[in-house]
Amino acid sequence: MFNLLFLALFTLTATGAPAADKTYEYIVVGSGPGGGPLAANLAKAGHSVLLLEAGDDQTQNVNVSIAANFLLAGNDPATRWDFFVKHSDNATRESNYRRTTWRKTDGSFYVGTDPPAGAKRLGIYYPRAGTLGGCAMHNGCLTMNPNDADWDAIANITGDSSWSAKNMRKYLIQLEHVNYLLNSTIHGHNGWLEMTMLDPGYQSSSDAKTIMQLAAEGSGFSAEDTATLATRDMNGEQPNRDQLTGVFGGVSHMDPQGHRSSPGYYVRNTVRESKYPLTLQLNTLATKIIFDNGTTNPRAVGVEYLQGQSLYSADPRYNASDKGIPGRAFASKEVIVSGGSFNTPQLLKLSGIGPADELKKFNISVVVDLPGVGQQVADNYETSLLSLGARDVNSGNGVIYPVFLKTSAAKIRNIYMWCGSFSFEGFWPGFPEDYGPSQYECAIVHINPHSQAGSVMLRSADPRDVPDINLRFYQTGESEDLGALLEAVKWVRSVFSKVPSSLGPFKEKHPCPYPRSNCTDDEQKTYIKEQAYSHHVTSSCAIGADGDNLAVLDSKFRVRGVRGLRVVDASAFPKVPGAFPVLPTMMLSEKATEDILAEAGTL
Ligand SMILES: Cc1cc2nc3c(=O)[nH]c(=O)nc-3n(C[C@H](O)[C@H](O)[C@H](O)COP(=O)(O)OP(=O)(O)OC[C@H]3O[C@@H](n4cnc5c(N)ncnc54)[C@H](O)[C@@H]3O)c2cc1C
Ligand SMILES: *[C@@H]1O[C@H](CO)[C@@H](O)[C@H](O)[C@H]1NC(C)=O
Ligand SMILES: *[C@@H]1O[C@H](CO)[C@@H](O)[C@H](O)[C@H]1NC(C)=O
Ligand SMILES: *[C@@H]1O[C@H](CO)[C@@H](O)[C@H](O)[C@H]1NC(C)=O
Ligand SMILES: *[C@@H]1O[C@H](CO)[C@@H](O)[C@H](O)[C@H]1NC(C)=O
Ligand SMILES: *[C@@H]1O[C@H](CO)[C@@H](O)[C@H](O)[C@H]1NC(C)=O
Ligand SMILES: *[C@@H]1O[C@H](CO)[C@@H](O)[C@H](O)[C@H]1NC(C)=O
Ligand SMILES: *[C@@H]1O[C@H](CO)[C@@H](O)[C@H](O)[C@H]1NC(C)=O
Ligand SMILES: *[C@@H]1O[C@H](CO)[C@@H](O)[C@H](O)[C@H]1NC(C)=O
Repeated sequence: MFNLLFLALFTLTATGAPAADKTYEYIVVGSGPGGGPLAANLAKAGHSVLLLEAGDDQTQNVNVSIAANFLLAGNDPATRWDFFVKHSDNATRESNYRRTTWRKTDGSFYVGTDPPAGAKRLGIYYPRAGTLGGCAMHNGCLTMNPNDADWDAIANITGDSSWSAKNMRKYLIQLEHVNYLLNSTIHGHNGWLEMTMLDPGYQSSSDAKTIMQLAAEGSGFSAEDTATLATRDMNGEQPNRDQLTGVFGGVSHMDPQGHRSSPGYYVRNTVRESKYPLTLQLNTLATKIIFDNGTTNPRAVGVEYLQGQSLYSADPRYNASDKGIPGRAFASKEVIVSGGSFNTPQLLKLSGIGPADELKKFNISVVVDLPGVGQQVADNYETSLLSLGARDVNSGNGVIYPVFLKTSAAKIRNIYMWCGSFSFEGFWPGFPEDYGPSQYECAIVHINPHSQAGSVMLRSADPRDVPDINLRFYQTGESEDLGALLEAVKWVRSVFSKVPSSLGPFKEKHPCPYPRSNCTDDEQKTYIKEQAYSHHVTSSCAIGADGDNLAVLDSKFRVRGVRGLRVVDASAFPKVPGAFPVLPTMMLSEKATEDILAEAGTL
């Protein structure tokens, strides 16, 4: 019914003069770490840009602007988009997920494995943000320039050496405004992103100092090295940095006073300067890319959209009866899709770019049969060892320190951990669970997951509907990846076992809950596998080699088989980049700026 009405409106405007439909040089869909900086950069280079963002401007919301409020921000209905995913095709495994989320008959959520009568199973909660600046407005602000091998691998598969780790540093320098290593030439000082090294509490808290020293010793250093290690630069240019393990300084995208710095602020500030041709249109959900079919390869010439607040059904404020106002805009040069790893493949498919069989099921006319759209989805696996101290752990509020490990079968460092007095066990509505001031955890991220079997599939042809997402964790490489995570868990346990009495002994909550100390490796692997969580999804529209049937993009972000269309966001990575995707996505955005300007002949 709604689709018919929409078609009728579209036909009316399409047959009339398109005078009301404005034309820009570039249209960018989505203002997250991929699209936001790109739109601002293109406008600063003198090009007219329309930036469409489904959400609104929450840059003044203190949940967002004060980085330490990120847990409040993550639960804030003003920014949240709620997705529910599967981790596998195995119903038993899915039902064992402790934080499974259900919709109760009164519309509210139930989280757990014993739902009340009538509750509908939603699945595993997966957080995203639908707001100016994307997920970088409610994320944890942790950054990591990926292992050099991650960048070099993109150069390898595409034969495009501009992706080498050595060259990618240029984009890091371009975007950074570091507040540490103030005279370093391997960091940027004039960019739009404030980067601050976190205080690990080493000087101010004796508990933090004690546990950090144990972590340093556990990774082959001496206790006296710890103060130096705690300021070690994780985004540095050390030779052989992929081999460096142990304690590092954590680097966060915020200013030294703790204000969040992010693409959302960069876009807002660029608009405020009012001297660049950047048009930001908020509360606008792009629904379809318009193609001109007059030439050999179809050319993207514009975007159809719906205007209105909370029009996407992942928005907790969504009301199906608010249908939005349809509109269109045109691009004389290019359309760039940056909706993130779930929304970018959805929009491409709705526009006729994707696996032909799937599109035909929904009566979507095929523009290009591109089987890789929504395939090869990957994510960092996460688990944790959470313990309770014998007394409160006075390690400072919100204070953490990162540790890298290289497990026995790995060629390069493959585990990133961050440790502190907090509890992080994944995501669900209302996360996290607070176990009180004696809680202490090392959160564990697997850097190079083998499985890329995840998919983002259409549920319907309705652009307001959420797609069907199955991450298919551990489909390949299960024994290597679970083995690495178990080794990391045992490493943490060994460090915690050395905590001196009065603060210790630490009593483990999981994976081997106290008073047990005899959990088998298999039991622990089952826990790590079934209770895995994640929030770094990538690769749903991946860059790949010419001739690779699943490659959606070429090395210059161009969607294969059409003209005038690129994808610039986390979905473009062929594999998950490092342990934290936000910085690599911003680097990718700077790179795309350069590639696009080079093609436009204005560089
Ligand atoms: C709770 C949480 C914590 C995180 N913590 C960290 C961390 O500490 N460090 C780290 O590195 N990474 C972290 N991440 C991940 C990181 O934030 C993401 O990987 C990154 O933001 C991805 O950027 P993106 O541009 O691909 O997509 P997104 O950030 O998802 O941005 C996409 C934007 O496009 C908009 N959009 C989508 N579809 C449409 C449409 N059809 N029309 C108009 N607009 C649309 C959305 O509203 C959104 O603003 C975290 C993520 C979450 C959710
Ligand atoms: C911050 O987020 C919480 C939910 O986490 C919400 O209840 C609160 O209203 C938000 N605060 C502001 C100032 O928007
Ligand atoms: C499905 O998951 C359950 C629980 O994890 C497991 O015991 C079972 O072996 C799995 N089945 C298959 C076919 O993998
Ligand atoms: C890139 O390819 C070269 C040559 O084949 C190989 O030696 C190297 O290990 C590859 N690097 C990565 C990161 O894949
Ligand atoms: C940076 O260099 C300047 C001039 O050489 C020097 O005065 C200053 O102390 C240096 N700052 C740091 C943090 O090293
Ligand atoms: C171009 O072709 C596609 C697929 O057949 C169709 O959906 C679209 O409406 C066409 N565009 C125009 C402008 O005719
Ligand atoms: C949804 O919007 C309609 C029409 O504006 C309104 O009548 C209804 O109460 C709204 N529903 C909810 C749950 O807010
Ligand atoms: C597709 O079109 C056919 C023929 O008009 C119709 O029978 C079918 O229900 C449509 N399918 C969908 C998913 O809309
Ligand atoms: C493991 O330890 C628990 C608690 O200490 C004990 O109850 C249980 O019997 C032990 N199991 C095995 C297999 O030894």
